[in-house]
Amino acid sequence: MTRGKYLVTAGDCASCHTKPGGKPFAGGLYMPTPFGAVSVPNITPDLKTGIGAWTDEEFYRALHEGIGRRGEYLYPVFPFPWYTRVTRDDAVAMRAYLASLPAVSSPRAPLRLSWPASMRDSLLAWRTVFFKPVASPPSYATPQIARGAYLVEGLGHCGECHNRNNVAGRSRWSGRLEGGQIEGWYAPNITSDGAEGIGSWSEAEIARFLRTGTSRHGGVVLGPMQEVVQRSTSKLAATDLLAIAAYLKSVPPHKTYADTATPVGRVTEGGTYVSYCGSCHGVTGKGVGGEIPPLVGNGAVSAGGAQNIIRVVLGGLPAQRGMAPMPAVGAGMTDQEVAAAADYVRNSFGNAAPANAEPGLVAQIRADTQTTLAGNPPAGCPKVTQAPLAAALQGTSARSRLEAMTDVTMLDEIDRLLPAIHAAAPSLDSSSIVNGLTDVYCAVLADRKIAPALRAEQLGNFSMLVYGQLKHPADGG
Ligand code: HEC
Ligand code: HEC
Ligand code: HEC
Repeated sequence: MTRGKYLVTAGDCASCHTKPGGKPFAGGLYMPTPFGAVSVPNITPDLKTGIGAWTDEEFYRALHEGIGRRGEYLYPVFPFPWYTRVTRDDAVAMRAYLASLPAVSSPRAPLRLSWPASMRDSLLAWRTVFFKPVASPPSYATPQIARGAYLVEGLGHCGECHNRNNVAGRSRWSGRLEGGQIEGWYAPNITSDGAEGIGSWSEAEIARFLRTGTSRHGGVVLGPMQEVVQRSTSKLAATDLLAIAAYLKSVPPHKTYADTATPVGRVTEGGTYVSYCGSCHGVTGKGVGGEIPPLVGNGAVSAGGAQNIIRVVLGGLPAQRGMAPMPAVGAGMTDQEVAAAADYVRNSFGNAAPANAEPGLVAQIRADTQTTLAGNPPAGCPKVTQAPLAAALQGTSARSRLEAMTDVTMLDEIDRLLPAIHAAAPSLDSSSIVNGLTDVYCAVLADRKIAPALRAEQLGNFSMLVYGQLKHPADGG
């Protein structure tokens, strides 16, 4: 990897500048802000619609000062408040890499901001209060910590999600790394606090998480952080990951919960948890090694905000890395029950998070949790995109067999399908098979006019059965 490409990866520029399925760096996405949406521009070297005509100086000024080519203020959804730390040398290397890519002609989509945010001059007030270009970085105890700070507080813009306060769009300026909300998820406290932050993680564990997405408790990374790991941190050098870890461990501990209004430890009633969750995660939240994660000391569970656990309960999780899928159990629970189960988990088994999972928050998250497993994917069921699985399924007439299947014949049908798939595509991993067949079954159920909650239940059962028959064929019957 060239230096410029490496830096562009560390800055995760593609996360915003490349639309899913679109040409690299050609823009086209919209970034949400409280005042509307900002379209992301094309930064390929196209002369008319990209940045081909920009000078290196103009490019550096955009990153360093948040000022566009015509001298206009840029919206801080572009993380220039972090990129301001990027050195001129590094900026020029990134520019050279971007300039080496194919030019794509793709004019910028209109901004969709409400007044007065739609006027770029309105950003002056924000800048006066919150932004000053960083001329020279503060000094740090060791060169390794300084490198980590450069990556975390600069290129990696980790605070864009992990800082607590939300000022002017998505830039959070206080509560540094203390945890914050992002797109309906909660990015946990990553200061060195032992209980709420990553103080109890070793540097090697933090580095491993950033490389693989597997946390020290064996849990799997979720939501926006999954993309950060995939696109960016998993590709960084081991020395840089350890530098990030060393820096995070050097950030003084901050408690997020100290100033939340709800008292810790309010919830002791565990009946809802035991009924809906205990069969898989266990009455004491220990899970099943390698297949069902523990709910103890888990970032998704004990974060300052309850969003992540609620989202998982309502939306379920596809099978990944050898783990079972989690059915969208919340589809069949009331908002009160989801809140009670979430609060119970957050306050039991040694977890001590605020009991702040209000039913209103559940209702809000329910409205925009649209997953296959929840029975209401927004644009119909996903197609089976894994080529080897799609090919293997062709020969098995899986779709029509699943259509004819009843609750009673489900297990037999799965047992007939699996060997055929194994034979046609022997190298397919269990997660791809489980998730692919779940997608096929989603399409079958979509044709039946049934309530989403029932669809979620049937899909969840089916998905778990496929997983169970793959992993534990002897136990299934
Ligand atoms: C979180 C999303 C996000 C990330 C990450 C991001 N950008 Fe951007 N970028 C934007 C948005 C949105 C704008 C438009 C801002 C505006 O119009 O005020 C922008 C604008 C720019 C511009 C100005 C282009 C123009 O036509 O005015 C440049 C140059 C740029 N980004 C380069 C980069 C580089 C290099 C990286 C990685 C180091 C990066 N961006 C990472 C969202 C992002
Ligand atoms: C049928 C089994 C099953 C039930 C019932 C179930 N879960 Fe899960 N849960 C899982 C599995 C399997 C995973 C891991 C899925 C993955 O990562 O792909 C998981 C993951 C999670 C996670 C994410 C953990 C992490 O490390 O990322 C949370 C939080 C969670 N479950 C909470 C709950 C709660 C609360 C309930 C009850 C309301 C519940 N689960 C009911 C099987 C289940
Ligand atoms: C786009 C938003 C976003 C960005 C940028 C981001 N994170 Fe995260 N991060 C999250 C979310 C959301 C979670 C919670 C994921 C989960 O529960 O599995 C998380 C989880 C983590 C965790 C696990 C914490 C725990 O207690 O389980 C660590 C460590 C972490 N992030 C470090 C970083 C570092 C270092 C960077 C910068 C290189 C970064 N993150 C950038 C959103 C983000």
